[in-house]
Amino acid sequence: MLSKVITIAQQKGGTGKTTLAVHLALAFIKYHKHKVAIIDTDPQGSLGKWFMIRSEKNSLNKNLTFKTASLWGAQYESKILKQDHDIVIIDTPPKIESDARPAIEAADLVLIPVAPSPVDFWATESIIEIAKKAKRKVLIQINRANHRSKLISKTHEYIKSINVKSTDTLIGHRQIFVASMGEGKTVVEKQRKSKAVEEIKSISNQILLELN
Ligand SMILES: Nc1ncnc2c1ncn2[C@@H]1O[C@H](COP(=O)(O)OP(=O)(O)OP(=O)(O)O)[C@@H](O)[C@H]1O
Ligand SMILES: [Mg+2]
Repeated sequence: MLSKVITIAQQKGGTGKTTLAVHLALAFIKYHKHKVAIIDTDPQGSLGKWFMIRSEKNSLNKNLTFKTASLWGAQYESKILKQDHDIVIIDTPPKIESDARPAIEAADLVLIPVAPSPVDFWATESIIEIAKKAKRKVLIQINRANHRSKLISKTHEYIKSINVKSTDTLIGHRQIFVASMGEGKTVVEKQRKSKAVEEIKSISNQILLELN
C-alpha cells in the first residue's frame, strides 16, 4: 500500500477542485492500479452528488471508496482510509482559510488548482502559507487553460515568484470535463485517447513521482 494523502484546496470557488479530485482518482485506478478513497468535506456535496449519479448508473468501481467528513473529521478519516488504500484524496470547500489546517496537516501533498487569472493567484496565498507552515509539499495545477492565452506565461511567472512547484502539464478548458462529471463519470472512462485524457494521465504520473 502506498498510503498517501492528497488534499485539494483553494480558497476561490469553482477552480476545479472536485473535477481534479475525481479525475485523479480514476487515473490512479486505471493507469496505476491503485486503490483510492475520496473524501468530500464540502457541505455543497458536489463530490457526493457525482458519486450518487455513479452508483445509480451502476458504474461503481471496487477500487474506489467514497466518504464524507468535516474538515476536522477528514484528518481522522484519512488516517483510517490510508491503512487500506494507496491514495486518499480530500476534496475541500472554498473559503476554508481558518478551517483548512486539519485537512492540510493530514496531507502528504497539497494540490492547488488555479485558473490562469490574477484573482485565482491571490486566492492561493493563504493555503500555501498554511501548507508551508505545516511543512507539507505543495503543487499547483493550472486548470481551465486556454493554451494560446498570454495569461499562461503570467501564471508561470507568478508561480515562480512565490517559489512553489507546479506540474508541467496544463489542463485545458474543455467541455468534456463538464459533460463527463454530469454523468457521474470522468474523461478517462469516457475516452480512450484524447488531449483531456493525456493531460490527466500526465498529471497523475507527476503527482505519484512527487509523492514518492
Ligand atoms: N478543465 C475544465 N474545463 C472546463 N470546465 C471545467 C474544467 N474544470 C472544471 N470545470 C467546470 O468548472 C465548474 C467548477 O468546477 P469544480 O466544481 O470542479 O470546482 P470546485 O473548485 O470544486 O468548486 P467549489 O469551490 O464550488 O467546490 C464545473 O462546472 C466544472 O465542470
Ligand atoms: Mg468542489
